[in-house]
Amino acid sequence: MTDRVHAIVLAAGQGTRMKSALPKVLHPIGGQPMLGHVLDAAASAGIASSHVVLGHGAEKVGDWLKSRSAEQPRSVLQLKQLGTAHAVSQAMPEVPDTALVVVLYGDVPLITPETVAALIAAAKDGFALVTVTLDQPRGYGRILRDAAGRVTGIVEEKDATPEQRQIREVNTGLMAAPARRLRRWLSHVGNDNANGEYYLTDVVGLAARDGITVRTVSAAASEEVEGVNDPLQLARAERAFQRRNVERLQRDGLYLADPARFDLRGSLRIGRDVRIDVGCVLEGQVELGDDVQIGPYCLLRDVRVAAGTKIDAFSVLHEAAVGRACIIGPYARLRPGTVLGDGVHIGNFVELKKTTVGDGSKANHLAYLGDAVVGARVNIGAGVITCNYDGANKFTTVIGDEAFIGTDSQLVAPVTIGRGAYIAAGSTIAKDAPADQLTINRAREQRSLPSWKRPTKG
Ligand code: UD1
Ligand code: CA
Repeated sequence: MTDRVHAIVLAAGQGTRMKSALPKVLHPIGGQPMLGHVLDAAASAGIASSHVVLGHGAEKVGDWLKSRSAEQPRSVLQLKQLGTAHAVSQAMPEVPDTALVVVLYGDVPLITPETVAALIAAAKDGFALVTVTLDQPRGYGRILRDAAGRVTGIVEEKDATPEQRQIREVNTGLMAAPARRLRRWLSHVGNDNANGEYYLTDVVGLAARDGITVRTVSAAASEEVEGVNDPLQLARAERAFQRRNVERLQRDGLYLADPARFDLRGSLRIGRDVRIDVGCVLEGQVELGDDVQIGPYCLLRDVRVAAGTKIDAFSVLHEAAVGRACIIGPYARLRPGTVLGDGVHIGNFVELKKTTVGDGSKANHLAYLGDAVVGARVNIGAGVITCNYDGANKFTTVIGDEAFIGTDSQLVAPVTIGRGAYIAAGSTIAKDAPADQLTINRAREQRSLPSWKRPTKG
């Protein structure tokens, strides 16, 4: 049934009040451009064909649409923004007569698939609108009804009489109408109004005059149909979006210290008894196994963490996979390509990049491991650094199982440390170190000078 439904998403407006070089509909909510949320809602409501009307910033928005997925919505260009009816008209040549048209706004990002589906159901072969009743209806088009309660039209704020401005039921802008009739009504819309614009809302009066019943659907929450026009409203929409996401996760068993201090900008899969402290940001695709605990102020982007692992405060993990029962942080940094086995300890100010670490290995303080393959039960001392980069190329460091790398050692890659090798503290290791032996490389033996005098101020 919904394959005959076509969505037309209006996204040509300038968004002057955003005061931004970024086209309005590309401003993100929960890490995704607003337009993406609208297209997702349409797709989730079962709409197979979407048309995006582009205007201001058309190139950037078009590029984003292309990068988004193989299955792109079609886009049409509205060269001049002559009004919402004009915008819809630009897409109509792409829509067959037999279709039902659903109009959505690229800057009304929190619309839910349920409301879109309800709108489609209410339209059937007639006409339907999403309306909401607001305490502060200022700026919105008001819904006009006759004595019997039938919708007779919409009047824009600027064109409304003082009495009409008292009406609190407002137009959200989202509507559905059969394409053939919509085409005819659009051709009758003029621009003789306070703005000199072609108002889509005039179509409602034309439909009522044709004896078509205009049904209304009310949005479940007013935030769902709130437009975003400035940075304040964007931030408000962001919080509303986060609250909605978080409630779903909490019902699924996520323990959040404070849902108001948690941001998910992507998707999160959780096991049982996952606990997240305040101030954490999760981006991309994150998976947290059973009993995972995340301390305060951590950033996780595209990360998998297996059961029982604890990530302590202020840790930053990016494209990393962490095994079971690990202890990470505080202040740990796992960069892309980090893969940790089970029971690994990565402590404060330890940075890993493109490095795998075997089960039970530890790097507890102040170390850098880049392009390394670290075996199991290895101990990396404080201050150990893999010198993986010669200024032009990157090289690999291999450390065998049960090796012990003494503090403040530099491993100059490419280099291999044998299984069970013991590297003395402060060594610069540029040649392979054999298994099960002590390797030491210091400038010279330690000396003490009995005749030495402490310098004094001259
Ligand atoms: C519109 C409605 C109003 C409703 C309000 C809800 C009309 C005439 N009025 O008013 O009844 O209460 O939305 O938020 O429709 N756009 C284009 N091309 C254009 C003009 C607009 O693509 O030529 C896009 C804008 O980018 C925006 C949307 O259409 O996404 C709405 O346009 P806007 O100018 O914000 O309409 P409002 O005055 O808010
Ligand atoms: Ca608006």
